Amino acid sequence: MILVTGGAGFIGANFVLDWLGETDEPVINLDKLTYAGNLQNLASIASNPRHIFVQGDIGDQVLIARLLSEHQPRAVINFAAESHVDRSIHGPEDFIQTNVVGTFHLLEAVRGYWGALSDTAKAEFRFLHVSTDEVYGSLGMDDAPFTETTAYAPNSPYSASKAASDHLVRAYHHTYGMPVLTTNCSNNYGPYQFPEKLIPLVMMNALAGKPLPIYGDGLNVRDWLYVGDHCSAIRAVLANGHVGEVYNIGGWNEKTNIDVVQTICTMLDEQHPDSPVTPHAELVTYVKDRAGHDRRYAIDASKIQRELGWLPAETFETGIRKTVAWYLANQDWVANIASGEYRHWVEKQYGSKS
Ligand code: NAD
Ligand code: DAU
Repeated sequence: MILVTGGAGFIGANFVLDWLGETDEPVINLDKLTYAGNLQNLASIASNPRHIFVQGDIGDQVLIARLLSEHQPRAVINFAAESHVDRSIHGPEDFIQTNVVGTFHLLEAVRGYWGALSDTAKAEFRFLHVSTDEVYGSLGMDDAPFTETTAYAPNSPYSASKAASDHLVRAYHHTYGMPVLTTNCSNNYGPYQFPEKLIPLVMMNALAGKPLPIYGDGLNVRDWLYVGDHCSAIRAVLANGHVGEVYNIGGWNEKTNIDVVQTICTMLDEQHPDSPVTPHAELVTYVKDRAGHDRRYAIDASKIQRELGWLPAETFETGIRKTVAWYLANQDWVANIASGEYRHWVEKQYGSKS
């Protein structure tokens, strides 16, 4: 059995669903259920006996120690984090608390458990830390993509907190010999993404005839990966990754934000001609830029391909088509999210008119 943290969020939930479909192994899913955690993401496995959900905090060392001793997992995969850059600009505290202090407590609980295992179980155990390409900072347009040896240069409170957690994970390997793996992935998109992030936000607003907010000049570049490909990459790293190593994960899909938004608008024109405003691109609205907005991220994913044989299955065109179709087919999921706390966030970030 494995223990996953943050498995009610976007990537974690996709991973748990993927894991139960691809393997026979049970999974314990520990999630605090913050605003970003949603049990609806896991509705299809609600009665699956191989999925055990526990509501709790990665910072609760006593709880984690109890879960580890009770279930004896062979691996822990840490997805749990505060993940939205704009929220980290408004209020960094939660990011430090969960991403730095929480990861530290999780590592301490795992160190206690791992240290008491038999020599064989100790050697086979893995702690896989899921991180981001944002720790490497921002690239110029002509710079080579980030490799695993690119120096860390985080620019937002979010990326700084993730960088700190990566350093702690690294230190637990070098100091205590804990068998850790770290993955640094580029921007994900796909089903169940909380609509504060660019792609689901744009889809939700477009369908409601609301402005599509583009920060700055819209020419910032992100390297997009379909979430299912991130899940298969994590499975590959867990199975065959070399202990203590870092693996960059990306889809070789660099796009400017305005290109991404125009693509979504074109697909919605085809797949949803009954929207209140068409063509959807008429809704594009340039707004004030994000503070400290990183210009470009790009991942060199050749190490994971060379060493583990992993390649993404989706191109941006196939992945975004699936994603648009999923959001259109799951309007109930979107409607349930677009209430309460979410409305307060939209007002704080984009103003009362939006
Ligand atoms: P998300 O915000 O959608 O989900 C985070 C989940 O973690 C939520 O279910 C939340 O309830 C849970 N959580 C938060 N604090 C917790 C705590 N203290 N204890 C237990 N659970 C807690 O995030 P996501 O987009 O799914 O990202 C998952 C991980 O992948 C994060 O570590 C993020 O840094 C990393 N990542 C994300 C992307 C991306 O594009 N979204 C890309 C690369 C890496
Ligand atoms: O690179 C990996 C990271 O990708 C992850 O570590 C983060 O958890 C994840 O949130 C994501 O960070 P970004 O800041 O790149 O994602 P976001 O969807 O917030 O923004 C994508 C780009 O779109 C970015 O350049 C900002 C821009 N943007 C975003 C929003 C929400 C807009 O132009 N308008 C918007 O309203």
